[in-house]
Order: sequence, then structure tokens, then C-alpha cells
Amino acid sequence: FWFLRGRRRRRRGEPPLENGFLPYLGCALQFSANPLEFLREKQKKHGHIFTCRVAGKYIHFLTDPFSYHALIRQGKHLDWKKFHFATSAKAFGHGSIDPAEGNTTENFHQTFIRTLQGNALDALIEAMMENLQYVMLQSRTSKLQSNAWVTEGLYKFCCQVMFESGFLTLFGTEFNSNHDKNLSSKQETERAHILNALENFKEFDRIFPALVAGLPIHLFKSAHSAREKLGEALLHKNLLKRDNRSELVTLRMFLNDTLSTFDDMEKAKTHVAVLWASQANTIPATFWSLFYLLKSPEAMRAATKEVQSILESAGEKISLDGKHISLNRKQLDNMPVLDSIIKEAMRLSSASMTFRVAKEDFTLHLENDFYNIRSDDIVALYPQLLHFDPEIYADPMTFKYDRFLNENGEEKTDFYRNGRKLKYYYMPFGTGIAKCPGRLFAVHEIKQFLTLIFSYFEIELADNNVQCPSLDQSRAGLGILQPANDIDFRYRLKCL
Ligand code: HEM
Repeated sequence: FWFLRGRRRRRRGEPPLENGFLPYLGCALQFSANPLEFLREKQKKHGHIFTCRVAGKYIHFLTDPFSYHALIRQGKHLDWKKFHFATSAKAFGHGSIDPAEGNTTENFHQTFIRTLQGNALDALIEAMMENLQYVMLQSRTSKLQSNAWVTEGLYKFCCQVMFESGFLTLFGTEFNSNHDKNLSSKQETERAHILNALENFKEFDRIFPALVAGLPIHLFKSAHSAREKLGEALLHKNLLKRDNRSELVTLRMFLNDTLSTFDDMEKAKTHVAVLWASQANTIPATFWSLFYLLKSPEAMRAATKEVQSILESAGEKISLDGKHISLNRKQLDNMPVLDSIIKEAMRLSSASMTFRVAKEDFTLHLENDFYNIRSDDIVALYPQLLHFDPEIYADPMTFKYDRFLNENGEEKTDFYRNGRKLKYYYMPFGTGIAKCPGRLFAVHEIKQFLTLIFSYFEIELADNNVQCPSLDQSRAGLGILQPANDIDFRYRLKCL
């Protein structure tokens, strides 16, 4: 039959093979409809490694967490960069950032580590603390003036607050605003610009999975134009008008100008990529952390107690007279309850996927056996299998705020399967060399957000019995999943 042509036959020493029924697409539709169910079913049938044909590619899934380190140990046969570089160019529309192709000699990975971790992180945290309070309090004054409750969608709220503060933290402020209590008209204009960027971000983000899957952006007219508008906002000539840019953006601008042959728009699109990476997962992770807290009175009690005690020991007083709370990195690092809550919320909502591409034919050594892998094949991990494994996490679909706390109330790191301690049990940020370089900043921002919410606001769900929204599976494989629907909540300023 014509449609069977081009299908691979399993050779000796290779993992069990699922070609799927569809020509070219193979298992793609079944996989994308519900990746977790699909992989669990194939795992039951084939065991801990199997190969699926997905959209013309052959993907070897490793499903045994004790084999995950094989991917890291045998890294010399596997490439993590090519796939990332190609995906970024496809989705954001800049030229190749693979130094082998000659457009730039920047080592992006190094730039990110240098400007998102170490000393650079302290400055990001400090700026974010200021910006979050500016956005939550001053920038929303019109909503908050009376002591009446404001009702809003929780996702919409998280999206606006995190996007606006994160944007200001990375890209700086348009005018040298002194954060007056009343918004000056310049600040209002700036806010309108950022909210406009948020609309463009959302429009573009909606089709992101399709772009990663290889569809050309020209098929999506409004998303295409949204991406171009984001690019325009982030042209170097516009960024140069902004004060207090982060080290990340300043260094990236410098390296774009000195090490690349990109034109102005391509340079801007590398900033769109950074904007997307900094927001696309953080926003839903913030939503899930706050949502589960609002649903769980026990978690809420433990969290508010921790926040109060950290503020007390830092000598910080909450007031609405314009003096902001400041907590430094060390103080924020001393909040194990919030850490556990954020981890648990991300365990339940993360569906990231780790990909590596075989550079050549090689033999992949797992714990007790080995398999032949062909050049250009993909080896992949799908950590949701691990996050939802009842042997590792008892009652895995239930939010337990203290799941990541040990009996001393400190971070719990011992998780077991078949009586053996696991090295890999929590992977929303990926693993190995390509692990998210912004992970420390991400957790700090969410912690800051929660700390400030509990400090300044009374907050509750509009309906305490509301069902937990389901996960929007259209983004499976790409990170933290969004809720399929928004949930109403209400908040008002505390009487201080
Ligand atoms: C890459 C998750 C927040 C910057 C990644 C990857 C994951 C991830 C899974 C890919 C790793 C791999 O391929 O193995 C997350 C999650 C976040 C988050 C769950 C929030 C909850 C952030 C933030 C920033 C950031 C706040 C920056 C400010 C990046 C960058 C990369 C990346 C630049 C690409 C790294 C490279 O290719 O060298 N992230 N991320 N992320 N993330 Fe994050």
C-alpha cells in the first residue's frame, strides 16, 4: 500500500516500534489528543522504552525514571541545541542562532546563565519586588479606590500582574517614573503600551503549539501581525529609550550588536523569544499556585503564617502610604512552605517534554539493557508520567500543600519507586544541560507575588465549591499547561 511506504521496520536491537495508522503523521493525533494516556497505554504494552512515529520523526520515549540519567550520561551522542535553535527560529521568526550557521557567535546558553543566576538574580528579584507592588497597588488604583470587593477572572489577573511586572523588570521603564501614588499620564501611557503588548503576546501565544509543530506563521494572519508588533516594541531603538533594563536585556542587546549579522527586526525577535520564555510558563504557574491556595484553607493558613513571620523577622511593615515592602533573596529563600506549594502546583500542571536528537547511530545504555538508536532519531522524556505516578506521589491528582516538606518542615528530597530512592522526581524545568536557566527567578517571582497578595489583600474565590479547571492539553509538551477555563475570584485592600 502506498501509505505504508516510508514506514520504518524495526531492526534487531531497536526498541519496540509503533508506526501508527496514519501516513506521515503516524501516532501524532493520538499523542496530541492526550499524551499522558497515550504514553501510559504504550508503556503497558511495550515496557520502559518504545519508539513512536510522530509527524515523520521517530521518537524513542524513555518512561522509567531510573533511566533518565542515561540521557545525560550519554550526552555526547545527543544534541540538545539544534532542536532548540530550530524551534526558536521557526516560532519567533529570527534567523538561525546556531553559531555553526554563521549569523551570530553568541553563546545564548551562557548569556542566560550569566544574567539570570548568581549576582544578576539579586538585582532581578529587587526590581521585581518593586514592580509587583507598583502594578498591584498604584497601577490598579482606579479599581481599588473604595474598600469594595473587586471581582475578576483569576487567570486574567495573574496574567496582567505578572506580565506587566515581568515586562518592566526585564525591559525597564519607558519613562523615569518615580512611582507616584497617582498615575501620571506618562505612566498611564506606558501601562497602555504594556497591556497592548500583552494582547499581542496572547494572540501569538495561542498559535505557539502550531508553530512548534511546523505550521508556517503565514497561516495565522492576526497572530503573525501580533508577533511583528511585539518585535517593533522591542526594536533596539525603542529599548534604548527605557531606563533600568535588566542585565539580561542589556547584554543581549550588546551581543546582538557586536556578535551577530542580524538586521534590526531579527535582533528584536530574539528579544521576543526571551519575553515569551520569561512569561509563557510563569503566568500559568502563578495561576495554579494561587488557585490551589484559595481552594485549600489548610495551605492558606500555613502560607499566611509563613509570610507574616518572614515579614516580622525582616522588620517589614505593611502599609498603604506608598512605602513598599522589600524582601531580599535570602529572606525569600527561607520560605519552605511557599516553595512546597509552588512545587506541588507545578507538579500538577506541568507537561514539559525533554528532547535530544541522536547525532549518529549509537547504542543507548539503560540500567539493565541497551538499544540501538539511529542517527537523527529523537530520544524523549515526558516527566508528567513521573509526576502522576501513584507509587512516587500517593494520591497523585490531589493537591497536598506539604508534599515537598519533610518532618522538620524543610524541603523534602527523598522520593521512592520500587523501594529505590529517585534522583529525578520533579522536572517542570527540564533536566541536564538544557534545564531552564530562569528557574530560580521564576520561583522567586511567584513567591513574591503570593507574599504581596497576602500582605495587601483580602482574597477569596467567588464560589468556594468551584471545580478545579481541567488542563488545556493543546500545549502538552511545551511546559506548564493553562487552565481550560478561568475562575472568578474577589479581592479588596486590607484595612491596615
Ligand atoms: C527554557 C520551564 C520560567 C527563561 C526552559 C525549558 C523549560 C522551562 C522546560 C526548556 C528546557 C529543556 O529544553 O530541557 C520554565 C518554567 C518556568 C520558566 C516551568 C516558570 C514556571 C522562565 C523565566 C525565564 C526563563 C522566568 C527568564 C526570565 C528560559 C530560557 C530558556 C528556558 C531563556 C531557553 C534556554 C536555552 O535554550 O538555553 N524553561 N521556565 N524561563 N527558559 Fe524557562
